[in-house]
Amino acid sequence: MGTVPSLYGQSDKAAPLTAWEVARYCVAAAVWAPSVHNTQPWRFAANGQQLSLYADAGRRLAVADPYGREMMISCGAALFTARLALRSLGYIPETAVLPDPGQSLLVARISWDGRAACTEFEQRLFGQVRQRRTHRGGFDPVPLPPNLLATLREGAARHDAMLRIVADDGRRAALAAAIRTAEDAERIDSAFVREIAAWVSPPGSPRSDGVPPTCYPARAEHTEPDFPGRDFAHGRGWGLPRLSTALWPRSAGVAGLLTTAHDHLLDWVNAGQALQRILLTASTCGVAAALHSQPLELGWLREPIRAGLSDGAYPQLVLRLGYAVQTEVSVRRPADDVLSATE
Ligand SMILES: Cc1cc2nc3c(=O)[nH]c(=O)nc-3n(C[C@H](O)[C@H](O)[C@H](O)COP(=O)(O)O)c2cc1C
Repeated sequence: MGTVPSLYGQSDKAAPLTAWEVARYCVAAAVWAPSVHNTQPWRFAANGQQLSLYADAGRRLAVADPYGREMMISCGAALFTARLALRSLGYIPETAVLPDPGQSLLVARISWDGRAACTEFEQRLFGQVRQRRTHRGGFDPVPLPPNLLATLREGAARHDAMLRIVADDGRRAALAAAIRTAEDAERIDSAFVREIAAWVSPPGSPRSDGVPPTCYPARAEHTEPDFPGRDFAHGRGWGLPRLSTALWPRSAGVAGLLTTAHDHLLDWVNAGQALQRILLTASTCGVAAALHSQPLELGWLREPIRAGLSDGAYPQLVLRLGYAVQTEVSVRRPADDVLSATE
C-alpha cells in the first residue's frame, strides 16, 4: 500500500491508507489544478473508495463565463490531477465523466480498487502538481526541447482535445490581435472589471482563492507580437518586481490553441484534463505556460478564431509555452475546505 507524502498534508506512515485518507490525498493534490481567476470552482465528496467531483456553480464567473465553460475546464484539470494522485499511490482510477445526465454539476465519479505500479512518467508528472505555476509575461528566446510539442499534442489527443500550434507569423499575429481586442474590450466593460476585482486580492491578503499580487508582474512584459495579460492590478501598482536575470528581448513563446471537436459539457471537461496534462508535461521539462482566455469569453471573437485559426474546431484556451525564471506564488483552499464525507 502507498504511504502519504507529507507534501499533501499528512505525515508518512507505514500503515495502509484508509479510503478517506486516499480521498483526502487526491483532493489535496487536485486543488492545485489551474482554474480561471483561481476561482477553484469545485467540491468533492468521498464515499468509501469513490470520490465525486462537483462543479461549484457559486464560483462560476457570471460575466466572463455565463455557460460555465471555463468552470468545467477548471474542473477537468482538477479531475486529471485527482486521477494522477491515485496513480501516484499505485491505484488504477476508474472514472465516469458526467455520469448522471440529471446532475450537470456532477463532473465525475472516480473509484479505485485495482493496482498497478506508477510509471516513471506519471511520477514525474505528479511531481509537478505543486511546482507548476501560470506564467504571465514573455519567455527567454530559447527553443523548446525537441519532441516536446509532439508529446503535448499526443497527450491532448488522449482526452479528445487537440493542441494546435499557431506557428505561421500571420496567424500568430491574428491570434495576438484577438487577445488585444478582447483585453481592451474587457478593460472598459464595467461588469468585467467588477468581476475581476472580486477575484483579485491586495498584498498580504489572507485569502486562499483568487489572484494575489504574487502571481503577476507589476509591469507588463511586452513581446512581438504582443499577447496582453489580464489587468489584475488595475492601476494599483501591485505585482512582482521585474527579474533582473531575465534574458532580453522577451519572446512570446510558442503559441497554441487547445481545441475540441464539439462544444458540450464533456468537451469542456476533456479540455481541462488535456490542459493539465499539457501543463504538467511541459513543467517536467522546465517549460512554463501562459494562458489567455480573454478572446474566448466574447462570442464575437471566439467565432472568428474558430473559423479562421482552428479549422472549425472549438477553441477552449490559448496557451503560450517557453522558458522563464518563475517566481510566481499562488494560493489554494485546503483539501478540508472542499472535501466532505457525504454527497
Ligand atoms: C479555464 C482557464 C482560463 C484561464 N485564463 C487565464 C487568463 O486569461 N489569463 C491568465 O493570466 N491566467 C489564466 N488562467 C490561469 C489561472 O489564472 C491560474 O490557473 C490561477 O490563477 C491559479 O494559479 P496557478 O495556475 O499559478 O496555480 C486560466 C486558467 C484556466 C483553467
